[in-house]
Amino acid sequence: MSDQLVILGIAGSLREGSFNRAVLRAAQTLVPEGVTLETFDIKGLPGFSQDDEANPPAQVVELKQRIRAADAILFVTPEYNYSVPGVLKNAIDCASRPWGRNSFHHVPAAVIGASIGQIGTAVAQQSLRGVLSFCNARQMTAPEAYIQYSPEKFTPDGEVTDEATAGFLRDFMAEFREHLARVLTVIPRENL
Ligand code: FNR
Repeated sequence: MSDQLVILGIAGSLREGSFNRAVLRAAQTLVPEGVTLETFDIKGLPGFSQDDEANPPAQVVELKQRIRAADAILFVTPEYNYSVPGVLKNAIDCASRPWGRNSFHHVPAAVIGASIGQIGTAVAQQSLRGVLSFCNARQMTAPEAYIQYSPEKFTPDGEVTDEATAGFLRDFMAEFREHLARVLTVIPRENL
């Protein structure tokens, strides 16, 4: 495990003014010392087809490479119809293949979701956790992060203007750092 840990953040929304993309940008400014939170944009990832597994599209190759280069993955997802947006599920499907080269195998992972509702994203997060279980990711199960988004708390470019929310996200990222360090101590990263 290197001194500088890299977390790869993936937002589940393609929307320009996405609350979840804004929360991911905010989290980038609230990481503990020794952690860098990078991002991968899933916009443009082609729809998964098993026919392409042996010769995957360049965007999929890049996604798998970025996951391989990271110590852990942070998902920041909206809730669409009680689950995650199809584009996020598609990204996970792409990176989980081909068989034997599942990019999430043993990888520390955490989940955040943001919506304007008080428990918005709770059902989506459960759904995502099921997917990540199958993918054998090492999930942080607590604390959980249900962020109630409002323009009073976040600026569109990811500045948190509410101290309680900033403190919560700062603590969450610190807990994630502890979690991923514990996981990597017993399960070193593999090159899948
Ligand atoms: C939604 N939204 C939504 N909200 C929720 O709390 N539960 C849900 O099941 C759904 N379902 C849903 C389906 C679809 C197709 C859309 C477009 C929206 C509302 C959603 O939370 C809201 O649009 C968020 O702003 C989306 O996240 P971003 O794009 O702001 O990150």
